[in-house]
Amino acid sequence: MHTVETIAAVREEVLRLRTAGRSIGFVPTMGAFHEGHLSLMRAARRECGAVVVSVFVNPTQFSPGEDFDRYPRDLAGDQELAAAEDVDILFIPSTKEMYPPGHATTVHVAGLTGRLCGKDRPGHFRGVTTVVAKLFNIVGPDTAYFGQKDAQQAVIIRRMVSDLDTRVKVSVLPIVRESDGLAMSSRNRYLNPEERQAAAVLYRALSEARAAVEAGEKDGKKVHRLVEECIAGEKLVRIEYVAVVDPDTLELLERIEGPALLAVAARVGAWRLIDNCIVGRDEL
Ligand code: PAJ
Repeated sequence: MHTVETIAAVREEVLRLRTAGRSIGFVPTMGAFHEGHLSLMRAARRECGAVVVSVFVNPTQFSPGEDFDRYPRDLAGDQELAAAEDVDILFIPSTKEMYPPGHATTVHVAGLTGRLCGKDRPGHFRGVTTVVAKLFNIVGPDTAYFGQKDAQQAVIIRRMVSDLDTRVKVSVLPIVRESDGLAMSSRNRYLNPEERQAAAVLYRALSEARAAVEAGEKDGKKVHRLVEECIAGEKLVRIEYVAVVDPDTLELLERIEGPALLAVAARVGAWRLIDNCIVGRDEL
């Protein structure tokens, strides 16, 4: 595995792989790898000739007052895990490499970014789409891998790729969970034991709601209330939003007649966690 820090170096390495006839699978991340990240690398390994992974804690997707400074960083651990997954190139740019002085261009996807997490985190998705568009331009992958864990992010990136005619296939993979159902997240490590235990309620609430829909419940508000009521039983968990939406447009569903995305964001102690599930179809 080659670890590279500059745009020029990653381009050179990718060119070398392409010249050897290998297709490129790309997994953009912010590091502190867990099984969720590794599942994306494994999919890329299975489906592509070469695997490129980026680790960049992107400052533009954190608002002032969010956890940018406290976001977990473990470069040595990440290098070891990526090498064990047979990653070809690990790209670890500095902030200056990605945002040199004078940078002035952003990528904004209208509409979709104002919903769900966009309401609580203004500017967040602009930071995500800007950095992902830059990474796509730098790496030029055939396929890029994202997790359904960040469902809204995946939907927005698909929209961006379609709107900008970017030559990349976006593949979205299922959420990897802990044994009690908690969706794996780099932030989970900061939960104290009580918070960690309480956090599993998010998955329980989503599972109950999904079961209700599968049993025939079609009233979006009732499904919404089910999730809220289940989470209300956990005093350490404070809901930021519950959403029952169309998985493609993220528009609110009053009636659930087709596929639906059930999504939730909540504070557990100081930490903001998100989770979701799809009903009515297998994947996002
Ligand atoms: P990060 O949070 O590091 O996540 C990197 C990728 O791993 C994302 O596509 C995310 O959805 C996926 N992922 C995280 N937890 C997962 C889980 N439990 N199961 C499956 N996949 C999971 O998302 C970002 O970084 C950034 O916003 C980024 C796209 C890199 C842009 O900065």
